[in-house]
Amino acid sequence: MADSRSLYEQVILDHNKKPRNFGKIENADAEIEGFNPLCGDHFTIYVKMEGDRIREVAFDGAGCAISKSSASIMTTTLKGKTIEEAKKIFEAFHQMVTSAPDAEFDADALGKLQVFSGVREYPVRIKCATLAWHALVAALEGQTEEPVTTE
Ligand code: FES
Repeated sequence: MADSRSLYEQVILDHNKKPRNFGKIENADAEIEGFNPLCGDHFTIYVKMEGDRIREVAFDGAGCAISKSSASIMTTTLKGKTIEEAKKIFEAFHQMVTSAPDAEFDADALGKLQVFSGVREYPVRIKCATLAWHALVAALEGQTEEPVTTE
């Protein structure tokens, strides 16, 4: 367990240092800001669709290591997924980070996102891990009112 924990930490640190899909998408179909009022961290999520499929997803902004790496892994996970698939992955992710530290979770459905399972031991970090996701799901649901807060 100690080994997987340090592996998870390495993945999080790597995505924090070199966030994937970081930057603006010109002519995005949706652009929405996510904001955590507790700390002021915020990201803008950009989505380009192809029918009901996410063709491109990117983000920019500033946040802590957990929020930034979560946004980064979110983009790599959801690219190419349908809206329904993306929502299901978010549900599984949300369930994992809000569950008891020893609760089972769907590792297959979550893939790389399971690196955030340690967040369960630090409830205050749940909002960090889900910040970008709340904004993305709001964008997929056609919400244009901004910003989407974690509250
Ligand atoms: Fe602000 Fe993590 S401390 S999102």
